[in-house]
Amino acid sequence: MKNEIFYKRLKKIKKYYINILVLATLTIVSLLAWSIDNEVKHYKNLALEYAKISFDKDLIFRKWAASHGGVYVPPTKRTPSNQYLINVEDKDVVTTTGKKLTLMNPAYMIRQLMEENEGLYGAKGHITSLILLNPKNKPSDWETKALKLFDKGEKEEVYEFLNKDGKEYIYYMKALVTEESCLKCHAHQGYKIGDTRGGVSVVIPMEKYDNEMYGEIIRIISVFFIFYMIAIVGMIYTYGRLKASLLEQEKLFDENRKKDEIMLAQSRNAAMGEMISMIAHQWRQPIAIISMWANNIIADIDMDEVHNDDFKKYAKNINEQTQYLSQTIDDFRNFFKPDKAKEKVLIQDVMDECLGVVGKSLQNSNVHVEKNYTCNTPISIHARELMQVYINILKNAKEALVEQEIKDAKVIINIYEDENSVVCEIKDNANGIKEEIMQKIFDPYFTTKGVHSGTGIGLYMSKIIVEQHLHGTISAVNIKKGVCFSIVIPKK
Ligand code: HEC
Ligand SMILES: Nc1ncnc2c1ncn2[C@@H]1O[C@H](COP(=O)(O)OP(=O)(O)OP(=O)(O)O)[C@@H](O)[C@H]1O
Ligand SMILES: [Mg+2]
Repeated sequence: MKNEIFYKRLKKIKKYYINILVLATLTIVSLLAWSIDNEVKHYKNLALEYAKISFDKDLIFRKWAASHGGVYVPPTKRTPSNQYLINVEDKDVVTTTGKKLTLMNPAYMIRQLMEENEGLYGAKGHITSLILLNPKNKPSDWETKALKLFDKGEKEEVYEFLNKDGKEYIYYMKALVTEESCLKCHAHQGYKIGDTRGGVSVVIPMEKYDNEMYGEIIRIISVFFIFYMIAIVGMIYTYGRLKASLLEQEKLFDENRKKDEIMLAQSRNAAMGEMISMIAHQWRQPIAIISMWANNIIADIDMDEVHNDDFKKYAKNINEQTQYLSQTIDDFRNFFKPDKAKEKVLIQDVMDECLGVVGKSLQNSNVHVEKNYTCNTPISIHARELMQVYINILKNAKEALVEQEIKDAKVIINIYEDENSVVCEIKDNANGIKEEIMQKIFDPYFTTKGVHSGTGIGLYMSKIIVEQHLHGTISAVNIKKGVCFSIVIPKK
C-alpha cells in the first residue's frame, strides 16, 4: 500500500517532467525554426539588396550617358560603330585633328560594361525590351514575363529565387522608363515619356550567400542543441535527485510505520497485562469466598454434620460467586477480542465498555465518574482501538488524581455530536498539566512518572490511533481544576 503511494507520486513527477520536456522541445524546435527562417530571409534580402544596388549602379551609368546623348569613343574592333544607332546624324565624326570617333548610345555602353565585367561583382546584368532595336538584346522567357507585367503597369520591379542546373539564383528585374533624354534615339519607335522602354535584369548566384547562411544555421543549431542538452541533463539530474529524496522519505516513513506498529503492539500488550492484573484483582475476592464455602463443606463433612439445607446454601453462594466471576470475564472479553472488521458502534457504548473494565479500579481509588451522553449517531470504526484510547486517558486521569491526592476526585465524560463528527471529552480535576510540558505529552516516551510506573507511550499511541486509524483529532487543554481531553472522530 505504501509502495503504491510512492509509485503514484513518482508517476506524477514523471508525468510532470514529460510535460516539461515536451513543452521545452516544442519551444526550442519552434524557436529554432523561427531563427532559421529569419536567417534564410536575411540572406535572401541581402542578395536582393545587392541585385538592386547592381541595377542602380547600371542606372546611373546609363543616365549619365543618356544625359550626354551618348558618348564618343574611338571605333575599334571591340567597339565598332553601332549599326542600330539610326536617326542620329553625327554618329561617326572626325575631330579637327583627324581622329575618328563613334557615338556609343547608353544601352550599348551598359551592354559592353556588363559583358566585360560579368563575374566581377558576381552579378550578371542584361538590358532588354519587348520591342528591340538590337536583336541581341532579346529577352529570356523569364524576362518576357516580367516585361509584360511592367507593360501592364502592375509592377515596377520583380524578383524570384530560381534553380538553374542545380544552383540557386536570384532573378531581379526593374523597368526602364522613357525619359526626355531617351527620345532622341527612341522616339521613332513610338515611345512617349513615361512609357516602359524595357528593363534591366540582374541574375546573382546564391551560392556565396547560401554558404554563409548554412554556416550561420549550423551555428544556430549548435547553440540550440547545447541549450537543449543542458536542459535535458538538468532535468535528468533533478529527476534523479527528486526520486532519491522521495525514496529516502519513503524509507523513513516506512521505518516510522514499523516503529509505530511495534509500539502499538507493545502498548496493547501492556494494556492486556494491565487488564489481566485487574481481572486477577477482581477475582481475588470471589475466589476467596468460593474457597471459604468449599472449606465449610469440607469442615461439615469432617464433623459429620451433613445437612442438605446447609449444603444447598453453600452451593448457592458458590454459584453466585461464579456468576460474578463470569460477569467480570464478560466485561473484559471485548478487550481481548482479536481485531475484526470495522463495525457500526455508538461511542458511548464503547465508553461504557471501557468503564466496565476500568470502572472498578476508579471506584477503588474513590474516583467519581459523571456521564453525559447525547450522541445518537453510530460510526464505523474498530471499537477496540477506540477502547484503547479511552482506557489510556481514564488511566492517566486516575493516576493523576491519586498522585495529587484529590479529595473529591472526579472524571466527567461528555459525549455529543455535531454536524460532521462525534466528540468525546474526558475531564478530570487533578490540577491539570503544566503548560511547559503540554506540547510534549503526545511525544513518544514522554512521561513524568518515572521509569517504573510510566513508559510514556500511552498518549502517543492514542494519538497515532486517533489520527491515523480513525482519521480524527485528539487534543488536551487545561480547564479550571484539571485537564480536558477531546477526541473528535469524523462521522464519515
Ligand atoms: C544616343 C541614342 C540613344 C539614347 C539617348 C538612348 N538610347 Fe536606348 N538604344 C539606342 C540604340 C541604338 C539601341 C539598340 C542597340 C544597342 O543595343 O546598343 C538602344 C537600346 C535600348 C534598349 C535595349 C532594347 C533594344 O531595343 O535593343 C533599351 C531598353 C533602351 N535602349 C532604353 C533606353 C532608355 C530608357 C533611354 C533613356 C534613358 C535610352 N535608351 C536612351 C540608342 C539610344
Ligand atoms: N489527566 C492528566 N493530568 C495530568 N497530567 C497528565 C494527564 N494525562 C497525561 N498527563 C501527563 O502526560 C504524560 C504522558 O502521558 P502518557 O499516558 O503518554 O504516559 P504515561 O502515563 O506517563 O506512561 P504510560 O501511559 O505509557 O504508562 C504523563 O506522564 C503526565 O505527566
Ligand atoms: Mg498513561
